[in-house]
Amino acid sequence: MIVPFLCFPSALSDLSEQIKAATKDNHVRAENTQLMLSYQKGEITLVQYKVLLCSLYEIYRALEDELDRNASHPAVAPIYFPQELARVESLERDLEHFFGSEWRKRVIVPAATLRYGHRLRQIGRENPELLVAHAYTRYLGDLSGGQVLGKITQKSLGLSSKEGLSFFHFPGVSSPNRFKQLYRSRMNSIELTEKEKAAVLEEAVQAFELNIQVFDDLQKMLSVATETADQHKDRSPAAVLPSS
Ligand code: HEM
Repeated sequence: MIVPFLCFPSALSDLSEQIKAATKDNHVRAENTQLMLSYQKGEITLVQYKVLLCSLYEIYRALEDELDRNASHPAVAPIYFPQELARVESLERDLEHFFGSEWRKRVIVPAATLRYGHRLRQIGRENPELLVAHAYTRYLGDLSGGQVLGKITQKSLGLSSKEGLSFFHFPGVSSPNRFKQLYRSRMNSIELTEKEKAAVLEEAVQAFELNIQVFDDLQKMLSVATETADQHKDRSPAAVLPSS
């Protein structure tokens, strides 16, 4: 008797594979934003990096507040790795490095960053099972292309040491590839109904879109600053934006 082959490769139903496939196009769009293209060309400027750090700080503060608050939620606990992944303290060190001890007064973020933070806090309160979509988008991104971006930042800005680059360093992760495998298997262990899984995939697409909007807003902020500086030749963009 021929036994019908009904067993699909498990990967097809794994959240980690589904989320990667669902966000593939958005990843390409994110890579092709002006800000990320500047990165890939090795043309990132200090002002660009500083405004990016400000926005990342707001985003990770919201993400990590909500992950901490929901640490024992069954859809959060398996992917809760504060020792290995938390970025808020490293961002604080970088911000202090570039802006000095009064850095808190100098953090400026565009509307898109506020919207991103608002969304994170909302799902943390109302649908914590969606946090995995955001944690995946940021942390696995940081451990993938983000590692290359760290090296480009150091080179483009001519930074001699790791100062100001803490964001890219994960001292608790000895092998990003092995850690990503562990993270994916933890994601796959989360028990979700089909409806919840579909909502997580949709939220991951949104998470990428929120990142794209932040990059676009930052770029707009920088062009307004440059235009303003051109109109007031006696003032530098530093008068409008965080000084370089
Ligand atoms: C994975 C590059 C921007 C999120 C990756 C990988 C590369 C990469 C090479 C590994 C792919 C693999 O292992 O199959 C880049 C480059 C970027 C960029 C060059 C921009 C210059 C972003 C952004 C985000 C992001 C802006 C989101 C905010 C991710 C995620 C993964 C990833 C979540 C993990 C995919 C998975 O294995 O499921 N990226 N990336 N990336 N990237 Fe990016």
